[in-house]
Amino acid sequence: MKVLVVGNGGREHALCWKLKNDSRAPELFCAPGNAGTAALGTNLDLGATDVAGIVSWAKANQPDLTVIGPEAPLCAGLSDELEAEGFRVFGPSRTAAELEGSKQFAKEIMKAAGVPTSGYAVFTDAEEACEYARERGAPIVIKADGLAAGKGVTVAETVMEAEIAIRDALAGAFGDAGSRVVIEDFLVGEEASILALIDGEHVVMLASSQDHKRAYEGDTGPNTGGMGAYSPAPIVTDAVLEKVRTEVYDRTLAELKKRGITYKGVLYAGLMIDNGQPSVVEFNCRFGDPETQAVLSRWDGDILPALEACVDGTLSEDLISWKSEPSVCIVMSAGGYPGDYAKGDVISGLDQAAAEDAIVFHAGTALDGDNIVTAGGRVLGVTALGSDLQTAVDNAYAAVKKISWKDPFYRKDIAHRELKRS
Ligand code: GLY
Repeated sequence: MKVLVVGNGGREHALCWKLKNDSRAPELFCAPGNAGTAALGTNLDLGATDVAGIVSWAKANQPDLTVIGPEAPLCAGLSDELEAEGFRVFGPSRTAAELEGSKQFAKEIMKAAGVPTSGYAVFTDAEEACEYARERGAPIVIKADGLAAGKGVTVAETVMEAEIAIRDALAGAFGDAGSRVVIEDFLVGEEASILALIDGEHVVMLASSQDHKRAYEGDTGPNTGGMGAYSPAPIVTDAVLEKVRTEVYDRTLAELKKRGITYKGVLYAGLMIDNGQPSVVEFNCRFGDPETQAVLSRWDGDILPALEACVDGTLSEDLISWKSEPSVCIVMSAGGYPGDYAKGDVISGLDQAAAEDAIVFHAGTALDGDNIVTAGGRVLGVTALGSDLQTAVDNAYAAVKKISWKDPFYRKDIAHRELKRS
């Protein structure tokens, strides 16, 4: 069996790792992949958004399944183009992916469906937007409407910060993605992530997780793609999960269906939970990163039957079970991330880290001759399980300490909230 995975991050390495361990052990191809995926299959010289190139490769090589990782190719219609050629694809259509591709569309769907989420307004004029932000006061959230490579969201602590974010976006800081801004009320509570598999009809929620989006300890500093995650997130109780199923997934899918949109693939709900009530902060049309590393490391058994069931419309809960041990993923980034950072530094200690019973998922890495070098902001996701959360945290950090390059940076407090509670 041939499986093509599209993308080059830690999420894609985790997907490849899980697929490779499937009892069918498929032959893996990754477009374009990283140094981690190169060890599990064949990296292709094709960018993730090279829709024409990927379709042409598929026609020549006939993959049995294509799993699309990132949002950009999904929003560019890669799933539609491959399906039109008769290929089996895990990942939503371009129209369904608009739940992530347009924050305005996502808010409209949620409002129409009665999904709990924050109040919002949409602007294309900077003066009107600033006036609205001044009226609402801070903290307030400014989002570029379109895809901005994870950089389009500002949680403004002051009105002045909000005005700067509004003016920057509408002046073109994110290109077309920021030609419209969505201004959202700030939600209080604790964040958690739910990834759900969907086959167009049935929804199966995966194990919960919690990401750490801020760069520095104590959840301070700039927003990043995510500096670490753990699973499960006990804040997501069974009662919360039931609300997420009925108030978030069921209502959203019903509203999409009303509009003639079928959702197939994974739908990530970024949640804020306040006193047991979840509200949606954002939808993503893909697996989260680094949530995937934490969640898939706990997936017990094969993943292919569940992904294929999403394609076939036969998804059911019994296709998925979980290890009871919690997991923790520590993201090691290049110094300076999420600002400017160096690339091309040689990474050492990867084998020693793996010997610590950790799984070292690669993100921004590349092969340079015999060396593995840094090639992105988030470089590695060092992931470990443990008999309890503290043990999982200790195991992951023990592995992190074996790894070095010129200027690594990582948060030392992943899972701190949960550890304080336990
Ligand atoms: N970890 C956040 C995201 O995947 O969007």
